[in-house]
Amino acid sequence: MEKLIEMVKAKVEDFFRKDASGHSVDHLERTLRYALYLQSKEGGDRDVIAVSAYIHDIHRILGNERHTYVSPKESLPVVSEFIKDLPLSDAQKEHILFAIEHHEDYASGKNGEKATDIESLILQDADNLDAIGAVGLVRTLEYAFSKKRPVYEKSIPLYRNEYEESTEDASTIHHIHNKLLRLGEFMNTKTARQLAKKKTKFLKEFTEMYISEVNGIFD
Ligand SMILES: [Fe+2]
Ligand SMILES: [Fe+2]
Repeated sequence: MEKLIEMVKAKVEDFFRKDASGHSVDHLERTLRYALYLQSKEGGDRDVIAVSAYIHDIHRILGNERHTYVSPKESLPVVSEFIKDLPLSDAQKEHILFAIEHHEDYASGKNGEKATDIESLILQDADNLDAIGAVGLVRTLEYAFSKKRPVYEKSIPLYRNEYEESTEDASTIHHIHNKLLRLGEFMNTKTARQLAKKKTKFLKEFTEMYISEVNGIFD
């Protein structure tokens, strides 16, 4: 398995080097580690999980290149180029494409089709675990600074809408409130739900402290 991961890394190295967004290789390394940990507790095909975790965000890199949103589904031709020579069965390669196609469908199951296989569920959980906690907070702030999104827009009340990936939140605090604090509810596996608890608590405390400091509430 370690050999397989090395092979994948070597294949995508140059492609990933072009990426300057928050979806850096560090995110993929962490997603891979979360995914392997979840697999050790929850089961599933370790090779499928490892490969899909490491290359799931090719769509983001393509999006940066093309200056527009590229969905995971639209990235599949590029993904299949990268995996075609790997020592995996055809069924495993199909499975990797399926998991990657659905990695962002954790909340609703877009296209009416919700993944139920453990490999896809673990990929969704691993990706979401890296979006919360201390690393998630820093990633969110980095994204906000790069997009010049304000940290907190206190004139706009914190509302809770149906989360849609395409809606821009008014500020980082709104984004944490609308999306990140709810990610724990969307975890598929028991192990991920457990890991998400501490991270969500930390984010909630950060948000509350930030709002009270900005508003001058001292007790
Ligand atoms: Fe993604
Ligand atoms: Fe991701």
